[in-house]
Amino acid sequence: MSQPTQPQNIDHNEPDVHSFAKPEEAIITHIHLNLNVDFDKHLLMGFAKINFKNLTGADRLILDTRDLEISRITQGDDERDVKFTFGDEVKFLGKALNIFVDKGVSLVTIYYKTAPDAAALMWLTPEQTAGKQFPFMFSQSQAILARTWVPCQDGPGVKFTYSADITCPSNLMALMSAENDTLVHKDGKYHFNMPQPISSYLMAIAVGDVRFHAFGKNTGVYAEPVMLERCIYEFEDMQKMVDAAGELYGEYAWGRYDVIVLPPSFPFGGMENPRLTFATPTIIAGDRSLVALVAHELAHSWSGNLVTNATWNDFWLNEGFTMYFENRIMEKLYGSDYADILDVLGFNELESTVKELGDTSADTHLYLQLKDRDPDDGMNDIAYIKGQFFLKTIESVVGREKMDVFLKKYFSEHAFQSMNTAKFIAYLNENLIHGDTAVANKIKMNDWIFGPGIPSNSFRVNSVLLEKAASQAKAFMAGALPKELETKGWSTHEWLQFLRSLPEGLSKDQIAALDKKFHFTNSGNCEILCDWFQHTIASSYLPAEAQLELFLTNVGRRKFIVPLYKALVKTQEGKAFATKVYAHARVGYHSVAQQTIDDLLK
Ligand code: BES
Ligand code: ZN
Repeated sequence: MSQPTQPQNIDHNEPDVHSFAKPEEAIITHIHLNLNVDFDKHLLMGFAKINFKNLTGADRLILDTRDLEISRITQGDDERDVKFTFGDEVKFLGKALNIFVDKGVSLVTIYYKTAPDAAALMWLTPEQTAGKQFPFMFSQSQAILARTWVPCQDGPGVKFTYSADITCPSNLMALMSAENDTLVHKDGKYHFNMPQPISSYLMAIAVGDVRFHAFGKNTGVYAEPVMLERCIYEFEDMQKMVDAAGELYGEYAWGRYDVIVLPPSFPFGGMENPRLTFATPTIIAGDRSLVALVAHELAHSWSGNLVTNATWNDFWLNEGFTMYFENRIMEKLYGSDYADILDVLGFNELESTVKELGDTSADTHLYLQLKDRDPDDGMNDIAYIKGQFFLKTIESVVGREKMDVFLKKYFSEHAFQSMNTAKFIAYLNENLIHGDTAVANKIKMNDWIFGPGIPSNSFRVNSVLLEKAASQAKAFMAGALPKELETKGWSTHEWLQFLRSLPEGLSKDQIAALDKKFHFTNSGNCEILCDWFQHTIASSYLPAEAQLELFLTNVGRRKFIVPLYKALVKTQEGKAFATKVYAHARVGYHSVAQQTIDDLLK
């Protein structure tokens, strides 16, 4: 049971515990990068020109760095050498870089190169790509990895514009979270501009053998040539999504919305890099059943990229709003039955997460305490789905009409600014609750934000379709044969509900019977495979092992591999198998995924 909580006295200007920078003294306004992409040495090398405003006459500009090799720093247009020092190395955070600038200086130039194992960057061999012919590299800056490839004020509360000159091998295409070209430049030289201010975690780069296809007036997809056709089919509704999102919460602020489909090592489902979402190929299911992910990353163009969590303790303001918005886009495009299905699956996942973390755990509060911790620790279903259901609960209390007016105003009044939990509470009180205690008592804001678990007033969603799918799982457990189950016309999500409704530890005969009829082991859908393999692992079902190994070797998406390794380490044979597979699969995982699996297997 959640305890009633008192309103908390939290800071309206809470400092960012994951950044050394002091933006209140001197703040970055623009970064210009000039970098060479070296696939042989696995590094980026060149310089960053940083414009800043010295607000207090400070004697230094403080930046975040991690594993950067800096050879020289100059100040001013005439590039006078300037003294710089590093602070002590701090776990997760790297090192402060102090640049001792003269009075009146507002530009420094930092000559540097990245480490071959820079945590944000992943360098792939041709064999690790779909086309198998060319190498590929991409970045993942969220949450605090931008500092491993760009010296910057690496907290989400600081926004700046950026531009870049990138040189890469001449047959490849370079893309950034910025204005992109759609054609390969034969000289390997690309210029980028991001005219709207963004937080550092949204800086991104990808270089590989990719081609572009346009869908509508401002949408398109980049992918490796051998993947492009399938991506075009999968994302056919992208323009409609962008238009629907704009109708809901205000004009799209970023010009174009494109998606790049990366090789399967990409550690996340998607990353909302402005103008260019990075996406995993595991959503290319062939039947458009996993495109909610595009709605999600697109929704971040408002919740996150426009109005940004001020610190990672406020992460729910990014992800909870985005989950809510994602669902509204899906509902607008595909109807409420579909949207309800997504909500029910999400809510069930939230319940498991709360169970796993413990329903009194402070990590189940929306407002997090991540000091001295890796912000990654807070990036789970609490921010996403508890956050989403908080907003759905508010909507159910005030009605959709008022909710939408409120959200539209929230996005437009805070565009290109950051937002923290204390400010949001004040804004909600002023603009939606208006001192109405009856409404406040129904919303129970403090229980959601500062209390554990799922508050008792949570809005609940039902899906008749998913109930039917769950009932078929029950029927199977009661002895019905697979061929007797009513599965005709099931979507991916009904299959997922079916698999999730089966208890752990089915007999080998039960697994074999299901597999014979429904061919789960050979499914082309990664979501289904992930749920299915959890059953085959729990039942030590050997005929699925080869496919499982293939899956773990090819796919680096953390959401899939983590539950599988977790299931494997529960038994001795499982752990031995996991260790064997990981020994060769690890090179195909991005550092953030390696980190998690290293911890699991140690
Ligand atoms: N911004 C996140 C990904 C992220 C979060 C990267 C925290 C690093 C740290 C992105 O928008 C996201 O939420 N992706 C989800 C997909 C979504 C449909 C829930 C994912 O990757 O699974
Ligand atoms: Zn997200």
